[in-house]
Amino acid sequence: MLSFFIMKKCYIIREESGGMKMEIKIFEDASSLDSYVADELCACVGMEEHPVLGFATGNTPCGAYDQCIEKYKRKEVDFSKVTAFSLDEYVGMHHQNERSFFYFMKTHLYDHINIAKENIYALNGAAMDMDSECHRYEELINKNPIDIQLLGIGMDGHIAYNEPNTPFTSITHVMELHHESIESSLNYGFNSLDEVPRQGVTMGIATIMKAKRLIMMAKGADKTELVDRMVNGIVCESFPSSIIQTHPNVVVVLDKEAASSLRLNTIK
Ligand code: PGA
Repeated sequence: MLSFFIMKKCYIIREESGGMKMEIKIFEDASSLDSYVADELCACVGMEEHPVLGFATGNTPCGAYDQCIEKYKRKEVDFSKVTAFSLDEYVGMHHQNERSFFYFMKTHLYDHINIAKENIYALNGAAMDMDSECHRYEELINKNPIDIQLLGIGMDGHIAYNEPNTPFTSITHVMELHHESIESSLNYGFNSLDEVPRQGVTMGIATIMKAKRLIMMAKGADKTELVDRMVNGIVCESFPSSIIQTHPNVVVVLDKEAASSLRLNTIK
């Protein structure tokens, strides 16, 4: 059954089949999308006694983080009880490195809100023993189940740094980065491809799927065909983000450009 509502600022499509529900919201512009995501995060923070949020890095979530900061400044939200996880990190990179994903989260969000430092968890890409680092992180997530996990989609269909053909059963692990991901890193302050680390350390696909709710964000025309494949394509390991179709509580939030190739008529 397909229900299709037109709201003031977004369209909501809800697909329900065999007990699965996938909600897709298409926003007029990136800023209304960002507001929605910030509202969802802050509502969770207000509701849960010990809220646990999984944050994503990249260009897509920055606006939502800005809006969370604005809400904090307006005293609409208190992040003091929040536990935070990040999805991934470059292998070999210290947290002090300005290009690390930890540094990204610190400068784009953590430094501007009242989150307790001891409740911020991140993968250490510079750990001497990556196996035990992955184990440590997975255990932390098991002890602190994530209420909302933010996600973006990579140019090769990855989620976090789970590149194509990562097993859906994977837990936190080290990954050889594919060339699309290495190239996309040029958007994150690297001057040349040579500077980009060749490996990432990432929550696994099974780790991500343990989150109680997923918010998948995509913006811009570059992502539109990927988004269609993620939402309407076959669920397969060669296109990792397709796994979200099987999550019981997922919302896909898109701006108009990212939704421009979405085959709505294929949703039954
Ligand atoms: P982006 O990255 O937000 O910079 O497009 C998304 C991703 O690679 O997950």
